[in-house]
Amino acid sequence: KEMTFSEAIHKASSSITRFPLIPVRGVPLMNYIANNWDSIWDFCPDPSDLLIATYPKAGTTWTQEIVDLLLHNGDAEACKRAPTPVRSPFLEIFSPPPIPSGLDLLEKMDPPRVIKTHLPFQLVPPGFWENKCKAIYVARNAKDNLVSYYYFDLMNQTQPEPGPFGGYIHKFMQGQLSWGSWYDHVKGYWLEREKRNILYLFYEDMKENPRREVERIMKYLDLSVSDEVISQIVELTSFKNMKENPMANYSCVPSPVFDQSISPFMRKGEVGDWKNHFTAEQSKLFDEDYEKQMKDVDIPFRTLI
Ligand code: A3P
Repeated sequence: KEMTFSEAIHKASSSITRFPLIPVRGVPLMNYIANNWDSIWDFCPDPSDLLIATYPKAGTTWTQEIVDLLLHNGDAEACKRAPTPVRSPFLEIFSPPPIPSGLDLLEKMDPPRVIKTHLPFQLVPPGFWENKCKAIYVARNAKDNLVSYYYFDLMNQTQPEPGPFGGYIHKFMQGQLSWGSWYDHVKGYWLEREKRNILYLFYEDMKENPRREVERIMKYLDLSVSDEVISQIVELTSFKNMKENPMANYSCVPSPVFDQSISPFMRKGEVGDWKNHFTAEQSKLFDEDYEKQMKDVDIPFRTLI
């Protein structure tokens, strides 16, 4: 009998280590990803597949849940059929056997599939664009994204050690974290959004008016669900409900991999938590660098940088 995702991940827990990063075309990726790069690059999606792309910690899981519920007309039970990474595989993830790789999971699924990626635009397998797949991108305020990633790197025992917060800010600014530069990431998809018909969303907009953003996703996917079902989806995907949902809160990943006693996957789910972490000096330095790195684009982040 084949192992379930949870059984496989439990079995693999003992061989988990904080994987070193190896650059793939200049983008630092965990060595497990870099070592399997060719098979990832060659992945050929079906035109009906949907890509959900984000820089890590920008609201991926939230968006995956909204999309799954929209595709199932708000049926909460149907969306509890499996944990998030099984319902919506993570394209580039390769972990030590027996954890199934994203590609293995995808191979066993029939299209249309909802595929998660953290790859920057230039590293997304070209098959997605050749096949005119739909893609949703979610961007999040840089400082909040950084804080969320910091806590995630503390608890995720496969990611490089984050070290002290001050040093982490520098690594973020220099694009040295896993999946590379936040700045290049948000810009890369922004510049391609029209040509590739990418729906570009903001975490802060989703927080401000989740109903409006759920409706935008629905329209983009050419779906039509009732107002009542939209309300249900907004409720089911509230931070509180997702935190308590074992199929959405990553409790499927055992503690030697995700140590949620250090920081829960569903941590705070708020806008502006950076203010509780950056000193005034760190914030000033970050803002100065931000101006430089973002001067060539005008992405409408709606909250303070
Ligand atoms: P925090 O660490 O700031 O709490 P990703 O899914 O891309 O890894 O992003 C995780 C971040 O999104 C975490 O941010 C998590 O709490 C937040 N998040 C997850 N589900 C959410 C929801 N339903 N509403 C608001 N934020 C959510």
